[in-house]
Amino acid sequence: SKIIFIERDNTRHVAEFEAGTTLMQIALDNAVPGIDGDCGGECACGTCHMVIADEWFGKTGAVNDAEEQMLSMTPERARTSRLGCQVKTSEDMDGLIIKLPEFQM
Ligand code: FES
Repeated sequence: SKIIFIERDNTRHVAEFEAGTTLMQIALDNAVPGIDGDCGGECACGTCHMVIADEWFGKTGAVNDAEEQMLSMTPERARTSRLGCQVKTSEDMDGLIIKLPEFQM
């Protein structure tokens, strides 16, 4: 299965994934620029901020409370923003499109 990360300049990174891996880990494993995951997935740094393509947002599940708190402090937050470490992938995310924010803390 594949996740597609798109940079602001439209550079695409196609990443293979196994279900159960978080979006943050997939980005790190594939050296996707701008995704750092500094806190190791503890929902405490915000450096795994990603914007899910509109049509895919429903597949990523609900934003949890700790995540909501971090996102509320993220200036670049978009309507479909998620923290990548809080989204576990599943098989039905094959083809998921993620847009990378312009600046990352
Ligand atoms: Fe730190 Fe996701 S890796 S909030």
